[in-house]
Amino acid sequence: MNIKNAAIAAGAVMGMPVFAAGAAELNLICSADVVICEKLVTEFEAGHPDINVNMVRLSSGEAYAKIRAEGRNPQTDLWWGGTGDPHLQAAHDELTAVYESPMLGELQDWAVEQADVSGHRTVGVYSGALGWGYNTQIFEQKGLEAPACWADLLNEGLKGEIQIADPNSSGTAYTTLATLVQLMGEDEAFEYLKGLNANVAQYTKSGSAPVKAAARGETGLGIVFMHDAVSQSVEGFPIAVVAPCEGTGYEVGSMSLIEGAQNPDEAKVFYDWVLTADAQNLMPEAGSFQIPSNKSAKVSDKVPDISQIKLIDYDFAEYGSADRRKELLARWDAEIGGRAAE
Ligand code: G6P
Repeated sequence: MNIKNAAIAAGAVMGMPVFAAGAAELNLICSADVVICEKLVTEFEAGHPDINVNMVRLSSGEAYAKIRAEGRNPQTDLWWGGTGDPHLQAAHDELTAVYESPMLGELQDWAVEQADVSGHRTVGVYSGALGWGYNTQIFEQKGLEAPACWADLLNEGLKGEIQIADPNSSGTAYTTLATLVQLMGEDEAFEYLKGLNANVAQYTKSGSAPVKAAARGETGLGIVFMHDAVSQSVEGFPIAVVAPCEGTGYEVGSMSLIEGAQNPDEAKVFYDWVLTADAQNLMPEAGSFQIPSNKSAKVSDKVPDISQIKLIDYDFAEYGSADRRKELLARWDAEIGGRAAE
């Protein structure tokens, strides 16, 4: 055991936080599932023992709010994951920094497009389509029909059986809101959401919480990204995964460096590493089944097959714009207004 390891062991015994002496710091917000967040940090630190990562998991909208609140005195260096819309809004507000990673050439077109549209203030790290997961045992016990379409979620039999997140905190729920507006038209989408509200038992803070609740039998159905429903069925829960028949939206999960970050060099080391195929291959190991953005990363056979899903032509520039996002969230607060519970 060398001196550094001895110090770490002593710190661990005393229950103190352990840092390698003189290690550089990296303050990371992670907006994807906490399991993949922790896995990325562990693997990164193993390969970069000179950099100590302080990670906090926040939903996409919360992360945006924190970065905005920190403004000219940023405490965050890098924001990885979460839906692209709030990353685009942060780019528009110039809260995030311009960076052209040498890894861009290895990425899928949709990931590079996210960089292009933001003047290189953000980049795509993964993608996935929106849908829902429902608990087949609950549906069977209650004699409920399998819901295949957005329209089916308005059935009276589903009263109290649906959870979805609050779009102010959650990028998943904002993607749902923006998807419905693009599918139906804005007024029709709000009419639909009012109808849906009658069946919603709870608006959660985090986007994937609804399907985790459905997996554990606390609710019948969670509106989430399809890959989050897959994660629960892979864990053995009785969750069926649905791509809505009318069509659906999708996310370009993104990453942004913070403007004025205190540790920009360390942030760039993580940024370039997390875009490699090796780093993205860690995702299925952590139960995360998004489509990776590195063209050479392996696509797990559990990843929902995008060619079988009717996707809308999601307008990221419009729905990630600061004005449109603010306007839709204000209307949601005024007309639907859930109270985030978890
Ligand atoms: C889950 C999904 C991610 C998504 C994220 C958004 O972790 O697996 O693909 O980007 O939710 O989280 P939020 O809590 O903002 O909806």
